[in-house]
Order: sequence, then structure tokens, then C-alpha cells
Amino acid sequence: MDDGAAGTRDGRAALRESHGEDEGTHMDVNIGLLGCGTVGAGVVELMRRRADKITGMTGLRPTIARVLVRDVGKPRAVVLSAGQLTNDPQEIIGDPDIRVVIETIGGIEPARSLILQAIRAGKHVITANKDLIALHGAEIIAAAEGARVDVLYEAAVGGAIPLIRPLRESLTANDITDIKGIINGTTNYILSKMTATGADFSAVLREAQELGYAEADPSSDVDGLDAARKLTILSSIAFHSAVNLADVQVTGIRAVTARDVYYARELGTVIKLLAAASDRDGELTLHVRPTLIPQDHPLAHVSDAYNALYVRGDASGDLMFFGRGAGSLPTASAVIGDVIEVLRNVSQSVPGRVRTLVHSHKPVNHNAGEPARHYLRMTVADRPGVFGQIAGIFGDAEVSMETVLQKRVDEGRAEVVVVTHEVPAARLAAILDTLGGLPDLARIETSMPVERGAY
Ligand SMILES: NC(=O)c1ccc[n+]([C@@H]2O[C@H](COP(=O)([O-])OP(=O)(O)OC[C@H]3O[C@@H](n4cnc5c(N)ncnc54)[C@H](OP(=O)(O)O)[C@@H]3O)[C@@H](O)[C@H]2O)c1
Repeated sequence: MDDGAAGTRDGRAALRESHGEDEGTHMDVNIGLLGCGTVGAGVVELMRRRADKITGMTGLRPTIARVLVRDVGKPRAVVLSAGQLTNDPQEIIGDPDIRVVIETIGGIEPARSLILQAIRAGKHVITANKDLIALHGAEIIAAAEGARVDVLYEAAVGGAIPLIRPLRESLTANDITDIKGIINGTTNYILSKMTATGADFSAVLREAQELGYAEADPSSDVDGLDAARKLTILSSIAFHSAVNLADVQVTGIRAVTARDVYYARELGTVIKLLAAASDRDGELTLHVRPTLIPQDHPLAHVSDAYNALYVRGDASGDLMFFGRGAGSLPTASAVIGDVIEVLRNVSQSVPGRVRTLVHSHKPVNHNAGEPARHYLRMTVADRPGVFGQIAGIFGDAEVSMETVLQKRVDEGRAEVVVVTHEVPAARLAAILDTLGGLPDLARIETSMPVERGAY
């Protein structure tokens, strides 16, 4: 305790001395903000609201000295002085008085180059950029370790929900075996709306685009890539292993139909885009895919733009994190939390306190995944004996059917829905193959895993 307190006083005293300030004054720490859109404006707003509190907690007074944007003449959600705004990144990166850079531009370039330049210039970096951390996190973190500066990115996954810090710090006494959750707000909004209204995917997507919940080009969200990038970031930290985007098996939600949503309800489940990763004796499996979740499972109740993550540690047991996964102030909440951590580290002269924690390269199983129950929807010729043939194929593969629903679709065609008992992925693939050769089968429309009940 004493050592820590003394260290704090010494660190601050040294900082004040180097800046020619007296005991009792609060030293300004100049911050450069890259980008002032949804998240950047939230950061400006929350920083203003919390300035005194941050100074009280850290002994340092954060000041947003410069804000980089593309168009300095554009109206902003927050008022900034003409002197604060710039479209020249070097006014931030090249300014030795700016000690902390917050990146809220998004995308890969110029964000990557600007962050690397800032690190090389000895600046601490905070970013909300999941795409960048998922693809270039290792390069950025290595550069930060080399320069002995902090790089923090709590806002990159789950908006306001603390996920990175609990995995990186609070839970490090555990071997984490599973992380599992809903980490993309757009797809969760679309699936929640499809469940509530019975509408089809394309109609709900159109509405989500009109309301601004989905991008004009929605592919990164609806094809599961955004969730896969976030799962890559979380898995690297949870499993202490370098995980690449290519390690995640990804299926998006475009093929989920109103029929599937209807049957899911009949089966006492809801469909969610589930991101899940596991570590089984040092072998990792990572999936993003639409999944039927039993209605008694807490994840079934995570609706609209909310996110949630389950974490299972060998000592902690099961934990669930839940909250707003996006939005201006929720995301700024995570960014400002990182700012406070950086300022604490600065005030105690302990930058780079928490290192990467990635100290292994665990093998990834790209094929299997654990045995799971599966939902299959198929259209068949509406003829006597067809169902018997389907049942025979499952019987021959020694996979029992937990539930079977059969409905006539139109003249001559019927829809058969089967939920299997737990089946290994390879055996399911063999069953689908054999079903495909059945003359009376028109199409296997959908195949999705079914999650076990509440944890
Ligand atoms: N939105 C969310 O709820 C949310 C949640 C979690 C994480 N994130 C992440 O946060 C980051 C920012 O997202 P956002 O929604 O705030 O984006 P945004 O609203 O599009 O804002 C981007 C900002 O960056 C500026 N900018 C873009 N390209 C630039 C360039 N080449 N040079 C200088 N400035 C440039 C833009 O300037 P102008 O204003 O002049 O165009 C704008 O101010 C992304 O990485 C995103 O994934 C967002």
C-alpha cells in the first residue's frame, strides 16, 4: 500500500517537475482525438462531463487539444473550437505535447499508420477499432511493447460492456474454456425483429437500413464477419493464443427465413447469431453461426442492439456480461475508462503495465466442433413413405431424432423439420450427404445447431 502511494506521489511529482509545475496544481495531459463521428463526439461529450472526476482520480487533467476529421466545416454533434479541429494528422502525431491519442476513425487505413506513428512517437493509444485490432492487433501491440506505451481497446468489442479488461485482468487466475455470446447488434436487431413480427430477412434488413441500424452495405454484419473479428479479439485474450480471422468458421444470417423463425418458436427456441469459441485441452474451435437458443437460456433474452457474452472459467464458473453493444455514449464510456487507465499509468510512471498475454499458438480445429443438437428443415415430395426413408437414414447413422415436425407446404410438397440428439459434426455431414441423394427430397433448406438449455 505504502509503496503504491509513494510511487503515485513520486510519479506525479516527477511529471510536474518535468513540466515546471508546482505541487498542488494538476498537470494537463493533452489528448489528440482522431475522428469525431458517432464515437468521437461521444468521447468529447463524456470527457467534458467527467473532467473533474478524472482529475480527482488520476491527479491529471485531460484536455482534448486537437481533433482530426476529414471535413473541418461539417456540423458536429459537439461544439469544438476552430483551433481544435484539423484535417492534418501531423498536427496531432507530430505534436510532442500530445501524449495520448484516441482513434475513432475506423477501418484499416489511415487508422493503422496513424496509430503506429503515434506509438513510435511515444504516445499512448486508445482505439475503438475492432477491424484494425482483429487484423493488425499483434503488430500494434508489439510496437507498443517496444515503445513502452499503452494500447487499450476496450470499446472495440461490446461497446459499453467491460469484456477486454475482465478477460485480461480480473479472470487471469482461470483457465477459460468457453466464451459464447451475441456480439453483433445489427444481426441481433434483425433476428429480434424477425422473431417479433414474423417478417422475412430482406424486409427487416431494408427497414433496419432505413432506421440507420444497418449499413447501406450490410455484408460485414449480416455475413457474420464483424462478429468473427470480435471473437478473434476476445479469443486471443481469453485463451492466451494468437487467433486469426481465418480460424473462425463463419455463417451469416442471410439464409435464415421466416419459416425457420416460425419453427424455432414451435420448438421453444429463438434464433440468434451466436459467436462461440472453446479451448479443449489446448485445441481451439471458433464459430459464428445462426443457432437455435432455448427460450430458458439467458442469451435468448438478449434482444435488439444489446450484446451479451458468457465466459466459463475453471475456477470462476459461469459469468455473463450484458449491456449496450454500441452507440455514442455507451462506446465512449469504454473509451474514457481506457483514458483513465492510461492516465493512472502515466501518473505512476508505469506505462505498458499489462502485456499482451498471448504466449502460445494453440492449434485450431477447423472441422469439427463439439457434438451438438441440430435443427434441419427440408422440403420433400408429399408422398407416403418419404418420412420413413428420412427416419431410416438417421437410424442407419445411429442418430436419434429428438423432435420431428411435418407440414404440408402446397400441392405435392411438404416441409419436414428434424431436431437431432447430439451428433458429431462429421456424422451430421454424412447424414446430409445421404439425405441429398434421396429422390423424394427437394432440398435441405436450413441446418443450424441447437444450443443446450440454460448453462
Ligand atoms: N458507432 C458505434 O456505435 C461503435 C461502437 C463500437 C465501436 N465502434 C468503432 O469506432 C470507430 C468509429 O466509429 P463511428 O461510428 O464513430 O464512425 P463515424 O461516425 O463514421 O466517424 C468517423 C470519423 O472519422 C473521421 N474520418 C474518417 N476517415 C478519415 C480520414 N481519412 N482522415 C481523417 N478523419 C477521418 C470522420 O471525419 P468526418 O466527420 O469529417 O467525416 C468522422 O469524424 C470504428 O472503428 C467503429 O468500428 C463504433
